[in-house]
Amino acid sequence: MNSKPPVDPQGKPLTANPQLLKWVSDMAQLTKPDAIHWVDGSEAEKDALTAKCVEEKILEPLNQDKLPGCYLHRSNPNDVARVEQLTFICTPTKDEAGPKNNWMAPKEAYDKLSKLFDGSMKGRTMYVIPYVMGPVGSKMSKIGVEITDSPYVVLNMRIMTRMGAVALDALGDSNEFNRGLHSVLDCNPERRYICHFPQDNTIWSIGSGYGGNVLLGKKCLALRIGSYLGRKEGWLAEHMLILGVESPEGEMTYVAAAFPSACGKTNFAMMIPPKRFKGWKIWTVGDDIAWMRVGDDGRLYAVNPEAGYFGVAPGTSNESNPNAMKTVMRDTIFTNVARTPDGDVWWEGKDGPVPPELIDWKGNPWTSKSTEKAAHPNSRFTAPARNNPALSKFWDDPNGVPISAIIFGGRRATTVPLVMQAFNWLNGVFFGATLGSETTAAAAGQVGVIRRDPFAMLPFCGYNMGDYFTHWLEMQSRITNPPKVFLVNWFRKDKDGKFLWPGFGENMRVLKWIVDRARLRVGGQETLFGWVPKAGDLDLSGLNIPSEKVDEATHIDLDEWKTELEGLQGFFKELGPTMPRALELFRELLGARLEAVQAAAKRPLGT
Ligand code: GTP
Ligand code: SPV
Ligand code: MN
Repeated sequence: MNSKPPVDPQGKPLTANPQLLKWVSDMAQLTKPDAIHWVDGSEAEKDALTAKCVEEKILEPLNQDKLPGCYLHRSNPNDVARVEQLTFICTPTKDEAGPKNNWMAPKEAYDKLSKLFDGSMKGRTMYVIPYVMGPVGSKMSKIGVEITDSPYVVLNMRIMTRMGAVALDALGDSNEFNRGLHSVLDCNPERRYICHFPQDNTIWSIGSGYGGNVLLGKKCLALRIGSYLGRKEGWLAEHMLILGVESPEGEMTYVAAAFPSACGKTNFAMMIPPKRFKGWKIWTVGDDIAWMRVGDDGRLYAVNPEAGYFGVAPGTSNESNPNAMKTVMRDTIFTNVARTPDGDVWWEGKDGPVPPELIDWKGNPWTSKSTEKAAHPNSRFTAPARNNPALSKFWDDPNGVPISAIIFGGRRATTVPLVMQAFNWLNGVFFGATLGSETTAAAAGQVGVIRRDPFAMLPFCGYNMGDYFTHWLEMQSRITNPPKVFLVNWFRKDKDGKFLWPGFGENMRVLKWIVDRARLRVGGQETLFGWVPKAGDLDLSGLNIPSEKVDEATHIDLDEWKTELEGLQGFFKELGPTMPRALELFRELLGARLEAVQAAAKRPLGT
């Protein structure tokens, strides 16, 4: 039994951290594994674990000529997405978690889950994964240790984080590390809980083997615990991509964008601009999470805490996202996609004709006549950031990149125009706080229903949402050189239910306007709700769609906005006493202006 921490070539243990050793030993006593494996992050270890997963049918090798180093994993069909109803914030009081989180008292949660964890690793190996979120050596980074009985989790964490010896080295003898405990148990939804203990910097996850439920560095640490720490320590942990826009002259502008799950972050972060934008380049810093701090110059600096992408497969093609397609060509784990007879992968929306025969995501034969989806709508790839041809050379920079614009966006069939800029910080926070979007397959439950997903953080905010809004408002006094804030919507539809805007690479046209606004070199048209592009300022040349569609996509319909503002009243009320008054007053102000404008429009001139 390999229960000793890894040793260096001289035989010296890589950690003698007494708190870490004690915690691992305590957790082993609870879960009773047959063996303990301290993960060192080496290639040899990866090869051995991969071989073990193949032998145990946890991973299926794909065609190694076409997709070297790539494997397919099929999760339990009852375990294909995050489970929001089973995710808990376990703060001492319910008020700290707030009305938008499920809450369990810490003692109750520890008691309940201890019973489930008791002996949960019998007959299995316990893996101890030390990892760093953020560039190694950055003062913005955080260290976590995840204990898990899933080798699939180890291999995914290996891609998604900087893990192994490097993390133990960074930790030294410090007690400041997130304690994550995970067991798949019997993968029974009745015994599935994802519990966060922000006060203890601890996460306990049991009963799932899927993505955001179990790769504890990602949503659990980087967002839920991260947002809690961010408020305490004066920074922001956000569900945002980070990208750099390079102009033909070599000018770099960094933006961060929050879109809810499966609403286009990965695609936007890797976008290839259309022909019209010759010489423009997009560089990916991150595709899902941003940690942002105020720098000495009063600007907001962002790092991506992750080292890989856990991206949505369906819809990814050489047309929609060529960089993602290149990224997943090697050393990638695919989860719940379909498989072709020659060991390639397939999903709905991939290039080329639909293959006549496939093995579907559940492992069953599938033909093109089948009415079921071949790949699960939330099937994903786990791929190293270093595979991305558009990876920014600053993606690993310990200082992060300076953010000039923050963008919010959701899936809205109506109301929200293609792009709009906030008048000021309060207006920007209002954009974030009121973000609405149709639900997607990224979380278990109904798909396609509009819900408020403030800052795209509804499932990820580790404390009371009203306090989170206040934190954003209060950041204004510290960010003396703030980014400009925008709202976008790639998903507006015409009356036949078709998208009005082509999206993907064409979003560059909107991004260009955003960059020019952030750099104060293009005008804007004032509307009731924000600045929009003046006629002619949005570069549409070479765009192959009727101008009426663009008009419809950019239109602000006052009746729709009246309904929107009225709906927000109820949402703000739901947030309870912590809801900042300034945001409700701002809502009322917009409502009052809207009423006045509508009344004036009805009054004949001269009366
Ligand atoms: P998470 O990883 O769940 O946080 O998602 P994400 O925000 O990174 O979403 P992603 O970029 O993976 O896109 C999700 C889905 O939206 C995919 O099926 C994309 O093809 C689709 N999509 C992305 N961008 C656009 C766009 O501009 N227009 C349209 N119509 N669809 C898009
Ligand atoms: C999301 O749902 O926003 C994701 C995927 O990025 S998961 O890691 O499963 O949460
Ligand atoms: Mn996400």
